[in-house]
Amino acid sequence: MNGQVKYIISQKHSSHRIESEEWMKVEDAFENFVGLDHIKDTLKSIAAWSVINRKREEFGLKTERQSHHMLFYGNPGTGKTTAARVMANLLKELKILEKGQLIEAERADLVGEYIGHTALKTRELIKKAEGGILFIDEAYSLSRGGDKDFGREAIDTLVKHMEDMNGRFICVLAGYKREMNGFLRMNTGLRSRFSHILYFPDYQLKELNKIAINMFRDKEYQLSKNANNRLLTIMREMDGINGNGRFVRNIIEFIIRAQAVRLLKVESLTKKDCILISEEDVIKGVEEFKKEKQDI
Ligand SMILES: Nc1ncnc2c1ncn2[C@@H]1O[C@H](COP(=O)(O)OP(=O)(O)OP(=O)(O)O)[C@@H](O)[C@H]1O
Ligand SMILES: [Mg+2]
Repeated sequence: MNGQVKYIISQKHSSHRIESEEWMKVEDAFENFVGLDHIKDTLKSIAAWSVINRKREEFGLKTERQSHHMLFYGNPGTGKTTAARVMANLLKELKILEKGQLIEAERADLVGEYIGHTALKTRELIKKAEGGILFIDEAYSLSRGGDKDFGREAIDTLVKHMEDMNGRFICVLAGYKREMNGFLRMNTGLRSRFSHILYFPDYQLKELNKIAINMFRDKEYQLSKNANNRLLTIMREMDGINGNGRFVRNIIEFIIRAQAVRLLKVESLTKKDCILISEEDVIKGVEEFKKEKQDI
């Protein structure tokens, strides 16, 4: 009886340890991301499944292969491509993917010009993605041309290999919400082939601000308090920025250049000068950003 209790306790303890180790890897990989908790949760459940599957194998129990093909949908700049990049590496670390490369593709990479060409191109891409992720952006463009379009052939080839090569590569299709919905409706079997359908929500102002602060910190810059307040006000007022991380990245680059222009006039520059972003830099940077946007 005593022995049995001990066994249970130590087992509980060891599975706890595995859990936290693997889950830390997920947390670490997404350290620089703001939000996206449901993406992390999905990856944690995949990590847990993989660990327990290996344990079951050790115990001589039945194990299963699961496919982890995913659909990402959400507005521009909500982190779909960036998350796929991080995920490819992470899944290698978690021993779910063998190599962890990310092959990014779009319609032109899959669709050929004559009968049979498309299947060939698609197969070649899948081969390249073996052991990693095949990331297809704007996936709905594959269904653009109607029945006679070769895009259909690409989808068929893809779907076939997603099943046949169960677990040897992960297909991630990405796109905007409305278009993806239409795309899924075109092929009834498609939705069920994707185990994970993940929504990338628009960012709230607070999150966008955090993204900005993280990006600056990552590049070894720091916003003064006034600079950050000013950035917040500007982001609140800006139209195009709605929920969009890419805008933040672009604005930051303008602000960094505005700081550089200001610093060139400073006589003996200190390290602190080079780090600090002032309110003036924010104002100037955003002005330039807006000017360039207006020109097109
Ligand atoms: N959650 C986040 N945390 C930190 N940075 C983010 C986050 N989401 C997006 N970003 C940043 O925003 C920028 C745009 O992200 P990304 O290119 O991944 O968006 P996307 O959803 O693929 O856009 P699109 O649909 O236009 O291709 C990147 O520089 C990325 O680092
Ligand atoms: Mg993208």
